[in-house]
Amino acid sequence: MKPFDFIVLGSGIAGLSFALKVAPRGRVAIVTKKDRAESNTNYAQGGIASVTSKEDSFELHVRDTLTAGAGLCKESVVRTIVEEGPARIQELIELGMKFSERDAPAEDGGKELDLGREGGHSKRRILHAQDVTGREIERALLNAVARQPNIQIFENHIAIDLIASHKLGHAGANRCFGAYVFDKKGNRVWAFTAPVTLLATGGCGKVYLYTTNPDIATGDGVAMAYRAGAAIANMEFVQFHPTCLYQPQAKSFLISEAVRGEGGVLKSLAGKEFMDAYHPLKSLAPRDIVARAIDSEMKKSGAEHVWLDIRHRPAPFLIERFPNIYRTCLSYGIDITREPIPVVPAAHYQCGGVMTNVDGETDIAGLYAVGEAACTGLHGANRLASNSLLEALVCGYRAAGKALANPAQKIATEIPLWQSGNAHNPDEMVVVSHNWDEIRRLMWDYVGIVRTNKRLERAAKRIANLQEEIREYYWNFIVTSDLLELRNIATVAELIVRCAQLRPESRGLHYNLDYPHPDPAWAQRDTILSKQP
Ligand code: FAD
Ligand code: SIN
Repeated sequence: MKPFDFIVLGSGIAGLSFALKVAPRGRVAIVTKKDRAESNTNYAQGGIASVTSKEDSFELHVRDTLTAGAGLCKESVVRTIVEEGPARIQELIELGMKFSERDAPAEDGGKELDLGREGGHSKRRILHAQDVTGREIERALLNAVARQPNIQIFENHIAIDLIASHKLGHAGANRCFGAYVFDKKGNRVWAFTAPVTLLATGGCGKVYLYTTNPDIATGDGVAMAYRAGAAIANMEFVQFHPTCLYQPQAKSFLISEAVRGEGGVLKSLAGKEFMDAYHPLKSLAPRDIVARAIDSEMKKSGAEHVWLDIRHRPAPFLIERFPNIYRTCLSYGIDITREPIPVVPAAHYQCGGVMTNVDGETDIAGLYAVGEAACTGLHGANRLASNSLLEALVCGYRAAGKALANPAQKIATEIPLWQSGNAHNPDEMVVVSHNWDEIRRLMWDYVGIVRTNKRLERAAKRIANLQEEIREYYWNFIVTSDLLELRNIATVAELIVRCAQLRPESRGLHYNLDYPHPDPAWAQRDTILSKQP
C-alpha cells in the first residue's frame, strides 16, 4: 500500500500543473507510465491560445471557440477558460517557461511575445516556443516539480484501475480511494491510496491506425473512469489533424497548423489549391472542415497524400520559426524551403472524455479529471486549435483549488490487494499485437473522418468480439502493460462507436453520411455513457 494525500495519474501539462498547486498542502504521488516527460504535451508544436495583444479580446476568443465547437460548447465554461488564461500563462512564465519573442513596435521598444495564428482564429493569439512549445512546457514544469520536496514521481508505473467504492461493493455515493498501479520494472501491483485522485492521463490517438500521438495515448484514464462508474461524454468527436507528415518511415510526425498560419497552402498532387471550394478561410478553415476536404480530395483523385506548400516564405524565416519541422523533414529528404510537404490527416485529439465541470470534478467523489482525459464542454463538437493546453492549465489550477477548499475525508475502509491471473502464455504477445492492430485498423476504416450507420454497426460487432477475447486473456494471464493498454483501447473504441451511434446527425467532427446535416434538436445535447454497477 502506498498512502498519499494526492495521487496524480499522468505527467503532462494537466497533471504537473495540478501537482504544483496542491504540493504545499500535502504529499503528492505523480504516477506516469513511461519517462516523466513522455506525454502528448511534450510533442505540442503550435502553442497555447490566449488573449495577450491589444488587437485581440476575450469576446473574439470566445466567439472563435464557439464557432469551431459547432453549437455544442458550454459557453460559461468557454468564458471562464478564456478569461482566466492570461493569469495562468503569466504563472507559467514565472515558473520558467520561455515563449518566443519578437521586437515590439518602435514606440513601445523592447520585446513582446510573438503570436502565431492557426485555423479558426480570427486574430494572432498563439503563444509558442518556436515549434517545440510542448517540450519547453514540460521542461519548465518538471524543473518546478523537482524543486518541490512534497512531490514524488513514479516513472514506468502504469495505473490499471481506479479503486472505487462501487467496485468494492459499497452502497451509497461512489467514491474514489486511489488506483491500482503496475510497477513495470519491479513487476508488481501496488495500491496507491489518497482522498483525492486526479486523472490526467491524456487522450487516445493510438485507438486509430494513423495518429499524431505518441505511444502513451491509449485512453487509459477514460477507460478506467468508465469501469469505475464515471460518466463519459462526447467520445464521437475525435479530431483528425489535417497535416501529419506522409512518410512511411516517420512515426507520427505533425506538421503544425502554424505552418498554414504563416501562409502555407494546401494543394492537390497536380499542384492546384483546393480549399477555396470548401470554406472562405481556405487552408485556415476549422480543422474538421480542412480534414474532410483533404479526405474528399484524396478519395476523388486516388492520391495517397496532398501537398502543403510554404516555399514562398523566405528560407531563413522558415528555419528560425519552424526549426524542428525543418530538421525533421530534412532528415527524410524533404527541404521545406524548396519543396512542398506531403501530408495526410491523422487522429489527433479526443474532444470527449470523463465528464467534469470547469473545476475538474467528476461524478465520483474524490476523483478529478483534467486535460485531454476530461470533457469540460470547452471544445464542443470540434476543438479550436491550441485551446487544449490552455484548458489543461486553467482547469488544473481550478481543480487544485477545489480539492484544497473541500478536503475529502480520510479513507476509513480496507483496500483489498489486487488480484490477477498468474499464467504465462508464450502466444500472448502475438495475440495482443494482433488484436491491437485489428482495433486500430477497424477504427480507421469504419469510425474515421466519414462514418455511416452500417460501418458503425460493423465496428461495434467486431469490437464486442475482440473484447470477449481480451477478457479471457486479461483475467487468466499475468499483468503486462501491453495487455492493460489493449484492454483500454478496446474500451475506448467501444465508447467512441457507442457515442457515434447515439448521435443521429452530423456536427463538427462527427460526420455521418446517413445524417449529413446538423439536427437543431441535438444542439447542446451531449452523448453520455456510464456503466451501471
Ligand atoms: P498528456 O500530455 O498526454 O499527458 C498524459 C500523461 O499520462 C503522460 O504522462 C502519460 O504517460 C500518462 N499516462 C497515460 N496513461 C497512464 C496510465 N495508465 N498510468 C500512468 N500514467 C499514464 N494542443 C495545443 O493546445 N497546442 C498545440 O500546439 C498542440 N500541439 C500538439 C501536437 C501534437 C503532436 C499532439 C499529439 C498534440 C498536440 N496538442 C496541442 C494537444 C495537446 O498536446 C494535448 O491535448 C495536451 O498536451 C494534453 O495534456 P494532458 O496533460 O491532458 O495529457
Ligand atoms: C498544431 O501545432 O497544429 C497543433 C495545434 C493543436 O493541436 O492545438
